[in-house]
Amino acid sequence: MRDAAVFECHWICDHDDLARVNREATVGAARQSGRRQSRAIGLEVVVVALCVAGCASSSSAQSLCTLADLPGTAVGPEPWCAELVPVPDLRSARAVLELRPAASPFGVAVMRDGRHVHDVVVTIEGLPQAATLGAGGYVAWVTDLTLADAERLGSVSNGRNVLGRVMRNQFRVLVTAEPDVDAPTRTGRIVLRGTSPSVKLLAHRDVAAAGMPGVATGAGDHAHADHGGVWPLHPMDSGMPMLPGMAGLEPGVAPWRPGAGVDIDALPAVRARTVVRMSDGDTLRLVAGLVRKRIGARRFAMYAFNGQQPGPLIDVAQRSRIVVEFENRLEQPSAVHWHGVRLDNRFDGAPGVTQEPVPPGGRFTYEVHFPDAGLYWYHPHVREDIQQDLGLYGNMRVRAPDSDWLGPVHRDEVVMLDDLLVTETGLMPWGREAPTHALMGRFGNVFLINGEPDWTLRAAPGEVVRLWLTNVSSTRIYNLSIEGARLKLVGGDIGRYERESFVESVVLAPAERAIIDVRFAGPGRHAITNRVQSVSHMLGSYTATVDTLGAVEVRGSAAAAGPGEAFEILRVRDDVVRGFDAFRPAFARPVDHELILGMDTERLSGALLSTMLLGYAPPVDWNDGMPMMNWLMTANDVRWTLRDPATGRENMEIDWQFRVGDVVKLRLNNPATAFHPMSHPVHIHGQRFVVLSRNGTPNDNLVWKDTVVVGVGETVDILLELSNPGRWMVHCHIAEHLGAGMMAVLLVK
Ligand code: C2O
Ligand code: CU
Repeated sequence: MRDAAVFECHWICDHDDLARVNREATVGAARQSGRRQSRAIGLEVVVVALCVAGCASSSSAQSLCTLADLPGTAVGPEPWCAELVPVPDLRSARAVLELRPAASPFGVAVMRDGRHVHDVVVTIEGLPQAATLGAGGYVAWVTDLTLADAERLGSVSNGRNVLGRVMRNQFRVLVTAEPDVDAPTRTGRIVLRGTSPSVKLLAHRDVAAAGMPGVATGAGDHAHADHGGVWPLHPMDSGMPMLPGMAGLEPGVAPWRPGAGVDIDALPAVRARTVVRMSDGDTLRLVAGLVRKRIGARRFAMYAFNGQQPGPLIDVAQRSRIVVEFENRLEQPSAVHWHGVRLDNRFDGAPGVTQEPVPPGGRFTYEVHFPDAGLYWYHPHVREDIQQDLGLYGNMRVRAPDSDWLGPVHRDEVVMLDDLLVTETGLMPWGREAPTHALMGRFGNVFLINGEPDWTLRAAPGEVVRLWLTNVSSTRIYNLSIEGARLKLVGGDIGRYERESFVESVVLAPAERAIIDVRFAGPGRHAITNRVQSVSHMLGSYTATVDTLGAVEVRGSAAAAGPGEAFEILRVRDDVVRGFDAFRPAFARPVDHELILGMDTERLSGALLSTMLLGYAPPVDWNDGMPMMNWLMTANDVRWTLRDPATGRENMEIDWQFRVGDVVKLRLNNPATAFHPMSHPVHIHGQRFVVLSRNGTPNDNLVWKDTVVVGVGETVDILLELSNPGRWMVHCHIAEHLGAGMMAVLLVK
């Protein structure tokens, strides 16, 4: 539990500023789109008016959602605020429910089964003395939507009431007048009641097909037949029936699959990853090319580095420098990016920023040096939605000189998590001219661990295995857990956490890494699962979903005792803590720069826009809640944006400049009021940063990072150390969002 004093103090320091930013973002987004999209102006004016009223009246506010906002923004689509409504004979009472992010080493706090965890605050005014209602006091309860299952949150009174944690998807909050204020069960009358914002999850069932992007199928089919054949039907989740009127549509780009005109039998069969241990100065040849891969009973043409999926695991010592001779044998241009590594800018592999794309048949020589120990990965930086999805990804594991850098385990496993979208007729084609699925990114329906659909790890009872995890999916965020095993989180993107911690599950957004020690208990076969609460925009509801990614087979004689004993100890990494000490004075500095994450609506049709303007967006997108609409929307139809509110510049127009050694506070704001808001994993090349806070809740266990997921309605403050000169990309790591323009460049001199 968080120390209440720290919480309050941080809150008072930070809050006014934060509320202001959220409102300005709203106003800015509305103004900006008002310029471009006249159809939506009516609604925007209303939104702006409400926001301005909120700003004016809440300057001394104590909270993200305040009484001063009522009625208004607090009852809007924000995922953290809702009004509590008084019963008719207590009209003078007003109250607002606020959901604050619970602290989590992953930023996103969820249970093992995927339910979000929030700290609940209820702010009340105007309740009469309980005695006047013949009661002993007021008590807050959380219940399900039918009012059953009331769970006591605590006694409340006028003012700000910080209550306990709530771990539910959709719920009600009641305040009752109880004869006994300590009553464990509810008997008194209701005085205030409200629902969680998540109840407003928008059902998209009324979408007019006329408003969809995409084109009607028919004559176009044959025009496309030269390359990927025709678009197959998009796979649908069983829980997500297709919206009426969408069956006849396909994206406005040609379907494309790799290996057109190539005999699949002539392709080399894909091989398992090899470990390449490299010393300072060593050279690796890295060839991107086509392979034949079997998944279940079917064979597909896919891509691989050196014929391997994942690509070779490069194992190097910290501070070494290696040479990689890259050769492109794909059908399209490519380049290799060394994700998370603070290397020389000219070898960063970002075409258009640090190098020309490598044409088919071309070569490029990279020199990669590794200043930081930990887990990194490489992938192409051209059409990631295609190339990375088809299997072009590999890890670099960088060894620290100190053998106790992470503590003892029995052994290590390096694990890449991926998902692939497969249809009845083969791999779901990609868009030739531009990415499809530009709305939510491309979610797969086949899960792959290290490229395999049925990956199995063998372990002995009591064995401790260190898993080095990387999420290489285009858009999917995982909530990973392992049955019958305990998980200890020790490392993140760039090195170790200040404090080791036991966790129920590991939340990993695209491009993020985690190092976890896993201790297996008794023998048996245990599933490795992704457990999330899927949303259906068709039904406006949540469903607990369990995907099985692989398994652990525990058998044989018990493992040696040593690492098992070490596993039980949670170490504080003093050297990591000390490493952050030099930066701590800067934690309180004012925000230097902001980026507002959103969508440019210029190209959207009015009918589509109007459906997106309404309703609630979940804070994190764990699944594709609207697969057809998502698929049809290409990067030609939608443009995602990073916007600097100080200048109004967006994406590649942003021209921030820094000096080597600068340490700056960057605020990432993802307003819930944007058009079709969604969570974005924001990645910065060639530097490192630390997450300071989310919606004002401070991060209490620091780790250096290069990618951070910013949920809907979240403001994430990071401290960015600019240690490496050059031109560096900052972008959303959802492959289809990057393909839809969501990137900028930072210049460090
Ligand atoms: Cu892994 Cu530009 O990113
Ligand atoms: Cu994004």
